[in-house]
Amino acid sequence: MKHKILVIGSGAREHAIVRALGRSPQDKEIFCLASNMNPGIAELCDEILIGNFNDPDFVVSYAKETDATLAIVGPENPLAAGIADALWDTGVKTVGPKKDLAQLETSKAFARNLLKEYDIPGGPKYQTFDAVGGVTDFLNELGENYVVKYDGLSGGKGVKVAGDHLHSHDEALAYCQKLVDSDGEFVIEEKFVGEEFSLMSFCDGDNLKHMPAVQDHKRAYEGDTGPNTGGMGTYSDANHSLPFLTNNDISQALEINIQTARAIKDKFGVGYKGILYGGFMATASGVRLVEYNARFGDPEAMNVLSLLESDFIDICIGVADGTLDQVDVQFANKATVCKYAVPDGYPDSPVKGEPIDVSKVKNLDGLFFASVDFKGTSLVEAGSRTIAMVGVADTISDAEALAEKEVSSISGPLFHRTDIGTDKIVQKRVDHMNSLR
Ligand code: GLY
Repeated sequence: MKHKILVIGSGAREHAIVRALGRSPQDKEIFCLASNMNPGIAELCDEILIGNFNDPDFVVSYAKETDATLAIVGPENPLAAGIADALWDTGVKTVGPKKDLAQLETSKAFARNLLKEYDIPGGPKYQTFDAVGGVTDFLNELGENYVVKYDGLSGGKGVKVAGDHLHSHDEALAYCQKLVDSDGEFVIEEKFVGEEFSLMSFCDGDNLKHMPAVQDHKRAYEGDTGPNTGGMGTYSDANHSLPFLTNNDISQALEINIQTARAIKDKFGVGYKGILYGGFMATASGVRLVEYNARFGDPEAMNVLSLLESDFIDICIGVADGTLDQVDVQFANKATVCKYAVPDGYPDSPVKGEPIDVSKVKNLDGLFFASVDFKGTSLVEAGSRTIAMVGVADTISDAEALAEKEVSSISGPLFHRTDIGTDKIVQKRVDHMNSLR
């Protein structure tokens, strides 16, 4: 049987998804609904069509036109728009949760309330608000350890952390007022102190198969300074843990993902079919859940899918059919480092439309196109994270050297973080956790 697979999204994450599908020996055609002309995806797909993939009617009509049997939703916005619901309604098996279940990502309050309701460990002290009444009292209770989170999708820009973005209760209150003025609800919660890591699980509604742990670097500049971004780069280790984590940390994170999948099925009577991405913090007193995402992480997808040894089509069908327990999911025992090249000025005032040259990159399997476009025949920056380069090796250190060499060979008005995956920054994480434990 020929699989007709529709991939939604056109960033580096979706390039990694398409590449993983392409490695499957099964008979297939791959179609992509895209927001920009990603040449990496275009090369691997039978067709790439640019259009509004947040519009259920448009997506369904394209799925029908291509006779798609399986769809994989990359980004969060189509999930929030109910694209998975619309695809299932038209008979397309879909990897990506339905709209209600995607609230794990699309509503910070929903995620916190779910953990509380089902007594799942890892949640902070928190309160939800739709007005500023009571904010000062709760901030006083939390002291200097608080986080204010806008309750909807905001591309990572809605979370303000005490000490990093907010420097007084007055500043916090002003941010809360701004959210109220724009009709936003918000959550204020206790700030965790520790080291963050991502643990993603394939989930078919009942069964979970876990991926290697990854650490992302959200700040734009060297040494974890500067504004927050979608993620400047990531690393994973050959043992599928991270140098600053204990086995117990990994077990606790897996257990939170398992209990959350069970809870959300109980709540809605429908299973979560997709990628359950827990953003965790290892702290002195155990693992805490920072947030959930309802999709592959970006850049994390490039780390884990570069290691995937099993047939990705079988995994996707297992997720959709609820038969993941029968699917072998194996990742290579290698370390990975992913570094994003981003436009000069990113994230606040990125240059756009400037040509870039990737002709000196040697390992094209490690190159993932993201926010790029074409001006005539020239490949140009489209204004967001531009190209991700992944190094795969036996150690993080060797993977870093590979990624660094390749990303440095890309020319254009771009920059990247040279420190991600270096011994120095990894050791800093280890020392930090040792000092806390
Ligand atoms: N790595 C952060 C994200 O995917 O949201």
